[in-house]
Amino acid sequence: MQSITLEKLLCERANQNFSDYQIQAHRNWRQLLNIQLESIEDRANQAFIEGLENIKDLIQDIPSINHLSGFLQEEIGWQLWPVIGLLEADKFFYLLSHRYFPVVTFVRSNTDINFSPFPDLWHDIFGHIPLLFSQTYSNFLQYLGYQYVTVENANRKDIKQNIARLFWYTIEAGVCYEKGKLRVYGATQLSSIEEIKYALSDRPIRYPFKLEEVINFPVEDDRVQDRLFEIPSFEYLRVIQDDFDSYLKS
Ligand SMILES: [Fe+2]
Repeated sequence: MQSITLEKLLCERANQNFSDYQIQAHRNWRQLLNIQLESIEDRANQAFIEGLENIKDLIQDIPSINHLSGFLQEEIGWQLWPVIGLLEADKFFYLLSHRYFPVVTFVRSNTDINFSPFPDLWHDIFGHIPLLFSQTYSNFLQYLGYQYVTVENANRKDIKQNIARLFWYTIEAGVCYEKGKLRVYGATQLSSIEEIKYALSDRPIRYPFKLEEVINFPVEDDRVQDRLFEIPSFEYLRVIQDDFDSYLKS
């Protein structure tokens, strides 16, 4: 198997062409922003709210990926990597390990405003980027990327699946306690009005986070998440990282 390099991935790097965005795409973006700024109140975790302040002015309309990437690089040492659609897991995690966050260039259609089964620019930017300003989150993300690349090279399919599940039940669909209240830090919920309300309602089944259970729990990523794992605080991601490290060494 040929190993991935940034140079090899360059051919899969997309160009964000603003003329591709129809008027409706700009409308959808602004509608998503208006809705979600309201629905994150008392639902999103504090690190997200604080991180969002840093990029709020840059995302009032469909943002320039290059411009936002330059800003992030200067502020926190992360860059954006535009792609046309979902990347294969090995490429995705490789980019994370090098502090590149892949972002899909298209914006969802107006029929998917409340919930989109696929990530789009809105999900990738609004759901993930504010939290990159948290060192706990950004270290954890890079750590998962690094471990995936390491086990990829060792051809450990079982561990790769463990990492993908760990990523899902934290970065994509994570809920945490903050001052005794349940808050959302998962990007699928932060970027979807339907998901954020559902996650904190009494409808999903929420389990206390146990690493062994999470890494063996199947993922169904094309529907609203009705199985969630709660962590006692957002900072607990550091504990998960240490525990996963011990698991890998055991
Ligand atoms: Fe995501």
